[in-house]
Amino acid sequence: MNFNEFKRKIYQKFDLNLDGYKEKQLKRRIDTLMQGLNFTDYGDYLQALQKDEKQLLRFLDKVTINVSEFFRNPEIFKILEDDIFPKLLANKQRLKIWSAACSNGCEPYSVAIILEDLNPRISHRIEATDIDRKILAAAKAGVYNSRFVKNVTPERLRKYFLKDNDQYTICENIRNKVSFKYHDLLLDSYGTGYDLIICRNVTIYFTSESQDMIYTKFYQSLAPGGILFIGATENMLRYREFGFTKISPWFYQK
Ligand SMILES: C[S@@+](CC[C@H](N)C(=O)[O-])C[C@H]1O[C@@H](n2cnc3c(N)ncnc32)[C@H](O)[C@@H]1O
Repeated sequence: MNFNEFKRKIYQKFDLNLDGYKEKQLKRRIDTLMQGLNFTDYGDYLQALQKDEKQLLRFLDKVTINVSEFFRNPEIFKILEDDIFPKLLANKQRLKIWSAACSNGCEPYSVAIILEDLNPRISHRIEATDIDRKILAAAKAGVYNSRFVKNVTPERLRKYFLKDNDQYTICENIRNKVSFKYHDLLLDSYGTGYDLIICRNVTIYFTSESQDMIYTKFYQSLAPGGILFIGATENMLRYREFGFTKISPWFYQK
C-alpha cells in the first residue's frame, strides 16, 4: 500500500484527515515509527492499527506531537498578561477564550492562572480543545511533573498547585475554570464570539492551504476587536488578507 492510500484509509477508518498536514514531515514521522516496530508495508501497519488500540494510540501520539508546558515562552505570556488582557478587559468584563489544540492543558490553565491573579472575582469562559482524546483526559486530570511547571513562579506554584514529590496537581479552583472537549481544526466547525483565540505550535504541521483555512475561520470566530495569539516561531505573513491587524509578532486583532 502506498502512503496516499494509507492516508485515505486512515481518514475512512479513524476520521483523521492527514491530508491537512505537511506531507514530508508527517511521512518521516510515521516511517520512523513503523521502522521501530519492524513494519515495512503501510497495509500491514494499518491492520495492526485496527487490531491493537495501543498501537493506534502510539500512532496518534506521533501524528499529533503534544509537547506543551505552562507559560510556554514566558516572555510572550508576560505580554499577554501586561498588555493584551488589560486591553481586552477595558472593553469587556467577562471574556470568552478558546485554547485551540490545547494538548495537556498547560496552555489554558496558564491563562486561567493569569486571569485569576488579575481579578479573582470575575469568572471567564475558557474553552480548550484538541484532537487527541488521551491528552484531553490528561488535561482534565491536571497532574504534571516538574518539567512542565519550570516557568511557573514559586508564588504561583504555591498558590495554584498541590505538590507531592515531583508531581504538581492543578488546584480545583483553576481546573474548574477550563472546559475541555474534542475538536478537529481541520474538520469540525468553529464557535463564534471569542475575545481571544490561542492557537500555538500546531499550524506549523499543516499545509499552507490548511493554515489559510484555519486563519480565515479564526477571524470569523473572533468577536470584533478579538485577538488571535499564535506560537513563538510562527508568522502569519498574510494577516492583512485574512482581515487582521498586527499588534505584535504573536498577537493579531480583528
Ligand atoms: C505541540 S502541541 C501544542 C500545545 C499547545 N498549544 C502549546 O503550544 O504548548 C500540538 C497539539 O495539536 C494537536 N493537534 C494536532 N492536529 C490537530 C487537529 N487537526 N485539530 C486539533 N488539534 C490538533 C495535538 O494533539 C497536540 O496536542
